[in-house]
Amino acid sequence: MTSDYVRIFDTTLRDGEQSPGCTMHLHEKLEVAKQLARMGVDIIEAGFPAASPGDWEAVNQIAKSVGTADGPVICGLARAVKSDIEACATAIAPAAKKRIHTFLSSSDIHIEYQLRSTREEVLTKTREMVRLASSLCDDVEFSPMDATRSDIEFMYQMLAIAIEEGATTLNIPDTVGYSTPEEYAALLRGIIENVPGAADVIISTHCHDDLGLAVANSLAGVRAGARQIECTINGIGERAGNASLEEVVMALETRKQFYGLSTNIDTTQLTPSSRLLSACTNTQVPPNKAIVGANAFAHESGIHQDGVLKHRMTYEIMSAESVGQDGNALVLGKHSGRHAFRHRVQELGYSFDEATINHLFARFKDVADRKKYVDDRDVEALISDEAGRPSPVYELEHVQFASGVNAIPTATVRMRGPNGEVKIESAQGTGPVDAVYSAINKVVLTPVTLLEFAVNAITEGIDAVGEVSVKVVEGKHKHVRGVLTDKATDAKVWRGNGVNVDIIVAAAEAYVSALNKLLKARQERLKQETTARMEVASAAPGVDLFGGSTLGRYE
Ligand code: KIV
Ligand code: ZN
Repeated sequence: MTSDYVRIFDTTLRDGEQSPGCTMHLHEKLEVAKQLARMGVDIIEAGFPAASPGDWEAVNQIAKSVGTADGPVICGLARAVKSDIEACATAIAPAAKKRIHTFLSSSDIHIEYQLRSTREEVLTKTREMVRLASSLCDDVEFSPMDATRSDIEFMYQMLAIAIEEGATTLNIPDTVGYSTPEEYAALLRGIIENVPGAADVIISTHCHDDLGLAVANSLAGVRAGARQIECTINGIGERAGNASLEEVVMALETRKQFYGLSTNIDTTQLTPSSRLLSACTNTQVPPNKAIVGANAFAHESGIHQDGVLKHRMTYEIMSAESVGQDGNALVLGKHSGRHAFRHRVQELGYSFDEATINHLFARFKDVADRKKYVDDRDVEALISDEAGRPSPVYELEHVQFASGVNAIPTATVRMRGPNGEVKIESAQGTGPVDAVYSAINKVVLTPVTLLEFAVNAITEGIDAVGEVSVKVVEGKHKHVRGVLTDKATDAKVWRGNGVNVDIIVAAAEAYVSALNKLLKARQERLKQETTARMEVASAAPGVDLFGGSTLGRYE
């Protein structure tokens, strides 16, 4: 089915969320889904409902609140397994427009070693499960997993069956990121030409970035006739990630004459989306990242600066404003009121309830007291930081420290605990950060290892707002540059970040944020263990086509 319109299928909340360290809480997933809708994506793959009750809940909540009649299609992923497809159908049910995305491996290596099955069984499963999905939902997407390493004639057979049973989109995953642009384009052309009915359904790309070719392969795919691209914000995803949404969209937009294709994306929302996701997952975008990186529009060399001042197009193929990187508006200062602040937040594309605005305003005032001008990037940093914050177990109410030449770095913190109790502790350290962290440790009393500590300036100048991000693991462990070397190498890593004009305060906030996540997860675990012990569980074992492999981690 070719026209000049390319659907953007965002899988940040499914394939992206599966990447190590990118796990999000429900409220963060909802924030990201709302932002994706605001940006104009056509389809949101909201999660994998059968993976866990939490995943089902997230997909269901997104279907309820973002799946409006004029909003995006809400899609859930399901293995070609009856119980997965049924769970998916119930999770997406509240959405006005919904899709079931079911998948089954087509390569011999997967069929033999992972599925422990045969080609015949795979064809039968494809027929039965796509038929089931189509009986529950009009819009069904089918993916032959590991398509790019599959026997081509066998994959044609699978795809033909999927179309016969009602699939309306065929997604062709380069699951292991193995393909090259020429091969991927040829694969898609072959499918369109040889699979009966393929010319009447949507062909979709799904490319992983193991060789750094995900964006190039996706673009080669649309040149070959695909009209849906599966991608993620900041390119997050399993291993090296997926095709980056901002890169494919801006390639199609900036090279419109070459591609002759369009999307529905409001490109000025690309940077806000990137920053929101980065705050929710506590992962920083590299400064040189195309489109959304802090340096993507910074001209450093004299020759370039000279050229840009004379005529922007000498060294710029797109404007910073067109992707939402508009950092020049110096509009807010310490005399700005709540009204002006709310107005600016709305202009930046965010809508918050009164309580959140008040909270943000208090933090803004704190920044404005210490910084002459607060520009859009500072405000966005505060917003992103707020969105990434779970309700705290411990609240940092006060932090004070002293250090200097020949001085012993000393810090005092006042924190409010889970039952409202207030604790004050002091400590000394090798430097101010160490002293603050030791004081916090005395309050929280949970042994942790600090694996990483990074500082980043959000804006320029001596009064820049600074962002600190940290990674911690529970317990005391040995590590080399953040990589655990003792037996706890698979311990869960918790990230936290803090934003403040005072870098030591930002460091304290980042540490408390990571500790809160760790403590919250521990509370959750204990709660579940207690419930499990009290319940007389009667679990009905479902069909496990993967021979007991863990749910919830598919690239
Ligand atoms: O990479 C992949 O094969 C996937 C499928 C589940 C579509 O993510
Ligand atoms: Zn994938």
